[in-house]
Amino acid sequence: MTQEILNSTTQFLQQKGFLNPEIGIVLGTGLGQLVHHLQVEVSINYSEIPNFPVSTVEFHSGKLLLGMLEGKKVIVMQGRFHLYEGYSLQEITFPIRVMKALGVSSLLISNAAGAINLNYKKGDLMLLDDHINLQGGSPLAFATVSDFGERFTDMCTPYDISLNTKILAIANENNIVLHKGVYAAVVGPQLETRAEYRYLKIIGADAVGMSTVPEVIVANHLQLPVMAVSVLTDECNPDDLKPVNIPEIIAVAGEAEPKMITLFKELIKSK
Ligand code: HPA
Repeated sequence: MTQEILNSTTQFLQQKGFLNPEIGIVLGTGLGQLVHHLQVEVSINYSEIPNFPVSTVEFHSGKLLLGMLEGKKVIVMQGRFHLYEGYSLQEITFPIRVMKALGVSSLLISNAAGAINLNYKKGDLMLLDDHINLQGGSPLAFATVSDFGERFTDMCTPYDISLNTKILAIANENNIVLHKGVYAAVVGPQLETRAEYRYLKIIGADAVGMSTVPEVIVANHLQLPVMAVSVLTDECNPDDLKPVNIPEIIAVAGEAEPKMITLFKELIKSK
């Protein structure tokens, strides 16, 4: 990645009308319906954006949107890129760099994850308080990284304390259960073995998923305050493990969606 590539994508999007966004949002499984609350002003398929990877997973529709939400100008990634689709860590985080270059001053992320902490139930939401990167690489491991920020990026507070404090208060006011915990990111796309779930619990993970951590690392590199919420779609009990049921995971994410939408909308309103 070079500054020229980043500039050319940013300028292309500005010419298409992606001007002055305040907040960036990454919609993962479990937050897709938020787009129906957005007054969309500009919309473009990822495939039409120069230097963007193209989303291949059929249930992610792959569009960048600009619009108003709760009185704020937001830029929304409808569908994200995953390492398991064959992209590099740099490719999947390129859109985060573009959103920052377009002007966002905070980033809100959603994802679906499996519950490792068995006190957390499927359908519950979990605010990321910290993470463990088990993806075997870093989106910052490239020669010219210091052209874009500090190479040895500090990760002592990966998730913004003020955003996290606000969303916990909003959850409380709205009677929404919002756990706090540690998210472990794996490559996927295979699910974990029983031994891997045991290991994840031992090393301190509360949830496991296949996304988010690269985006958060890059947000920290850019000094972009970031918040992320997981919808817990399944309970990963190594002593009672059933075969994975993807339609059920998607259904659980869908049922939890109204709670996630309330949290995100109220947070944006309060900013
Ligand atoms: N692992 C296990 N269960 C899950 C995951 C995962 O990565 N994502 C959603 N449920």
